[in-house]
Amino acid sequence: MCGIVGYIGTQAATEVLMAGLERLEYRGYDSAGVATVSEGKVHCVRAKGKLHNLRDRVEQEQNPAQMGIGHTRWATHGKPEEHNAHPHMDLAGRVAVVQNGIIENYRQLREELQSKGHKFVSDTDTEVIPHLIAECLSVCEETSLFPSPLLEAIRQAVKQLKGAFAIAVICADYPDELIVAREQAPLVIGLGQGEFFCASDTPALVPSTRTVLKLENGELARMTPLGVEVCNQEGDRLRKAPRTLDWNPVLVEKQGFRHFMLKEIYEQPGVVRTCLEAYLNEDWHSQEAPSSSPINLNLSPALYENIEQVQILSCGTSWHASLVGKHLLEQLAGISTIVQYASEFRYAPAPITANTLTIGVTQSGETADTLAALETEKRRRTGLASQFQPQLLGITNRVESSLAQMVDYLIDTHAGIEIGVAATKTFTAQLLGFYCLALDLAARRQTLPPAQISEILDSLRQLPAQVELILEGQQSYIEELAQDFTETQDFIFVGRGINFPVALEGALKLKEISYIHAEGYPAGELKHGPIALLDAKVPVVAVAMPGIVYEKVLSNAQEAQARDSRLIGVTPVNDPEAGATFDDLLPVPAVYELLSPLLAVVPLQLLAYYIAARRGLDVDQPRNLAKSVTVE
Ligand code: F6R
Repeated sequence: MCGIVGYIGTQAATEVLMAGLERLEYRGYDSAGVATVSEGKVHCVRAKGKLHNLRDRVEQEQNPAQMGIGHTRWATHGKPEEHNAHPHMDLAGRVAVVQNGIIENYRQLREELQSKGHKFVSDTDTEVIPHLIAECLSVCEETSLFPSPLLEAIRQAVKQLKGAFAIAVICADYPDELIVAREQAPLVIGLGQGEFFCASDTPALVPSTRTVLKLENGELARMTPLGVEVCNQEGDRLRKAPRTLDWNPVLVEKQGFRHFMLKEIYEQPGVVRTCLEAYLNEDWHSQEAPSSSPINLNLSPALYENIEQVQILSCGTSWHASLVGKHLLEQLAGISTIVQYASEFRYAPAPITANTLTIGVTQSGETADTLAALETEKRRRTGLASQFQPQLLGITNRVESSLAQMVDYLIDTHAGIEIGVAATKTFTAQLLGFYCLALDLAARRQTLPPAQISEILDSLRQLPAQVELILEGQQSYIEELAQDFTETQDFIFVGRGINFPVALEGALKLKEISYIHAEGYPAGELKHGPIALLDAKVPVVAVAMPGIVYEKVLSNAQEAQARDSRLIGVTPVNDPEAGATFDDLLPVPAVYELLSPLLAVVPLQLLAYYIAARRGLDVDQPRNLAKSVTVE
């Protein structure tokens, strides 16, 4: 949440900063601002609302500055008003700071600074930082020469900050220095030819450079036109090797689609294909030696043998994918699995169990709660007997993320970066990650007969074409259907078994982007309370895929219909029973029940998308949300 950028080099800084912010706007869009240094002054421009408001302002001026910082905000402390927009400055207007994160002890620091005469003009936590740096700088300028008083002042200031944050700082008196620091929030430095960049995420850097240095927690970097020096909070210089980003520029362009979300929904067949190509061993056949696996995940052999329990930690849509994962791990691999919201686990972790694999699932790889929950798990297990040692597996599409750095094993879901704030293709890709993991474990632990594994693999291979069929066959019907719901105020989604999480996901998609109240329930729970909400104004969407609970879901749907609700069914094609039950059908190809979430979610994504689009809403940047939730 919040995106920060910085630039020092030979180009007009404002242009570079604005281009970077445009690629980070998915991280927050409540307000934006840039600050540059030239002719011994900091020049700061800020605007409330989306980035185009800031663009209108900066375009009205000629700014020759060649270094500066920028910010796009997701409000935490203080309303989304201009006076709370970053950059924030000290009273003298010499030090400017942008921050992504939360300074937890800002109240105490603010009081201390106020007692020394500092005056504050915003409601933010960030504003204490420039004041603190200015305070430290006045001392460091007297005493410190190495390597720079500004770096030294920032180092001292950062040591006093508590929380998770990344900052970029400029100072009018140091026109050749841009300083950044990182503590539990992402920050990447880009290395160009005689110019250097920094950003919260790589999309902001790639138009300029693909050579990057990733800052770790507790590190600071001083960027000058001559190069980048990195040190830790003790002031020790560190040597870090740059690496080259593997990057597909197509992922950050809309490619003719009206919104990124629609483009990403349409990317799903390709995502499924790539993921299967990456992990399926095409030479495997069901007559092979028992315990051989058709999946190449490269986990350690000891892990396969020893796991007795899995716990999955995640948030939001990734939590829904985790619920499907639990179903697969239990039903295919016979491993008892718990799924917890990462934000809950942090402060009430489940009791420590032996031989437990902990899985963190996150599309951004940067969700603060998920990272902190994994960290909690690692910390509390380290030093215990060998069967209690932490074993962490990450499932993400961002292989360069903080999650990827902290886990022992990684499943790259191959979805690439997702720009639309509502997760779509990354959900599907996380599901595939779980199918691969569960099948791998099932094969190696021999909990499923090879012939059944083979059957599931055959069905998996058909998925890309089946998703394509849904997209081709349903897009215009759903676009039309959406028209009926532009004024609807409440929706209920139901599903059972492996499709209960799909009902939750359908409801989340709809509420996130259309602002229509929507809830997902296990279909059998409807009669235990939620049915009281139903009448002709509340449509019910039921995910009813053939399998063990099919008839039950149809009966539950009929109970809703008897209360006058309009019934929409995600059902198999050409199913007379479904045809007789539902008012509206969103048919998907008939598929092995266990794989049905991968198809059933697609019409629900389209339904949410078209209802929101018909309501004229900003689908890619829904209000109050951000793509990467880097605060607690
Ligand atoms: C839903 C959505 C959020 C995220 C949640 C976790 O469309 O995008 O609910 O799923 O914030 O994010 P990640 O997966 O990045 O950990």
